[in-house]
Amino acid sequence: MQEKLKKIREEALARLEAAASSDAINEIRLAYLGKKGELTEVLKGMREVAPEDRPKVGGWVNDTRKAIEDKLAEVQAAVQEKALEARLEAETIDVTMPAKTAQIGHRHPNTIALEELERVFIGMGYEVVEGPEIEYDYYNFEALNIPANHPAKDEQDTFYVNKEIVLRTQTSPVQVRVMEKQKPPIRIIAPGRVFRSDEVDATHSPSFHQIEGLVVDKGITFADLKGTLAQFAREMFGQETKVKFRPHHFPFTEPSAEMDVSCFKCGGKGCRMCKGSGWIEILGCGMVHPKVLRMSGIDPEEYSGFAFGIGLERITLLKYEIDDMRLLYENDDRFLKQF
Ligand code: DAH
Repeated sequence: MQEKLKKIREEALARLEAAASSDAINEIRLAYLGKKGELTEVLKGMREVAPEDRPKVGGWVNDTRKAIEDKLAEVQAAVQEKALEARLEAETIDVTMPAKTAQIGHRHPNTIALEELERVFIGMGYEVVEGPEIEYDYYNFEALNIPANHPAKDEQDTFYVNKEIVLRTQTSPVQVRVMEKQKPPIRIIAPGRVFRSDEVDATHSPSFHQIEGLVVDKGITFADLKGTLAQFAREMFGQETKVKFRPHHFPFTEPSAEMDVSCFKCGGKGCRMCKGSGWIEILGCGMVHPKVLRMSGIDPEEYSGFAFGIGLERITLLKYEIDDMRLLYENDDRFLKQF
């Protein structure tokens, strides 16, 4: 019996000595101390031991068990320590590694162009105001001298919320809102989003931006309009920029014009940008129609004014030589970061 126990002990200790993982150690534990383990089997055999020898044999068994258990604990601790060391090693933090920076967005080219434009007009004493994007039909059309049967009111062009309310198709209604509330002198620009039932293509979008301008005071003439817009063009596109006014028609101005600037790419010689003409159209403008002044509560006998409407996207596309408007709305970081 003693021989057998000695053999079990030696074998168990040797196996434990060689064990390299918690799993291996557990396996050994089961093999010797488990329900069907070798040592347990020996204990079961105690029945056959003569009663007077049992205390002695029991002592041997306990000694063996204790030796195996002690070794188990020792090996287990060693294995755990090794595992911890390996983990610490693997998780070492390299404090010299560059940090992951958060992705910060980039100002939209429309915003950059608008802020530049606002700087120019603020410098000339203008105030920046805003009006609602969801607008009464009255302000969007009627009060701007666009009567009910005017083609601009065609449902094809306009998003109607109901008969009286539309998504504004232009920023011009802000003119009326300002004139109703404020006595001249008035000098405002009103940037904002506008909506038209247009198909998306390289030059159209159902939602885009305009900047409205309005000046009303005593003795305002077309010369003021020309001087102001020429100054704006020089500051926005370069001091050598020339301007040209072509007669046009808008219901809310009389006379009305469109303003072209000399092509800032080729200087007027003609290139791809200006389609060979040397000129680029950038805005609509005119002297505020007396009917519009009167409807807004301003006496056209006493006051006169000029107004203009600029397409923001058009300015942005020209300024940054972007050839497809859709790029402005895709919010692709790689595109935006170029400006
Ligand atoms: N609202 C016009 C449009 O959307 C642009 C415009 C033209 C505005 C002439 C004006 C103006 O204030 O005087 O086409």
